[in-house]
Amino acid sequence: MTIKKAKIGIVTVSDRASKGVYDDLSGQVIMATLDEFLTSPWQPVYEVIPDEKDVICATLIKMADELGCCLIVTTGGTGPAKRDVTPEATEAVCDRMMPGFGELMRAESLKFVATAILSRQTAGLRGSSLIVNLPGKPKAIRECLDAVFPAVPYCIDLME
Ligand code: MTE
Repeated sequence: MTIKKAKIGIVTVSDRASKGVYDDLSGQVIMATLDEFLTSPWQPVYEVIPDEKDVICATLIKMADELGCCLIVTTGGTGPAKRDVTPEATEAVCDRMMPGFGELMRAESLKFVATAILSRQTAGLRGSSLIVNLPGKPKAIRECLDAVFPAVPYCIDLME
């Protein structure tokens, strides 16, 4: 799969990873998976940030508007815990939502784990950027990206 001018944002949303309590394996899995899927060159823009709605919004806006990322993939903060606010931040910065992404990722994830219904992951469009939420577990990243990534390059083409 190819994406033209592919600057891609990878945002790990985790209080503990952002404090250095543990290594951000999920961000690394996203990068390895994108490397595998994309046959054209791409440039990562990578950040690890805490579960703070304002910080998530500011990071998404910077990656979309200033850095020109055509795709921004977040990981973490999609569950029911009180600090989980990634979907709310995504909705706050998007012009239009793309509910099919969350629906498909949950449906596919349910084939692996019954707890997939606990993820409120969503996706949406801000300007010419597609923002997609993934759960925080490294294992979940591959399961979700396998399901939705085939639609991503076409979605980016249509947004131009
Ligand atoms: N989806 C997949 N594919 N695989 C998983 O292991 N874990 C679930 C769910 N979705 C999981 C998954 C669990 S246990 C939770 S709590 C939610 O994602 C939210 O995770 P997050 O808060 O780390 O984003």
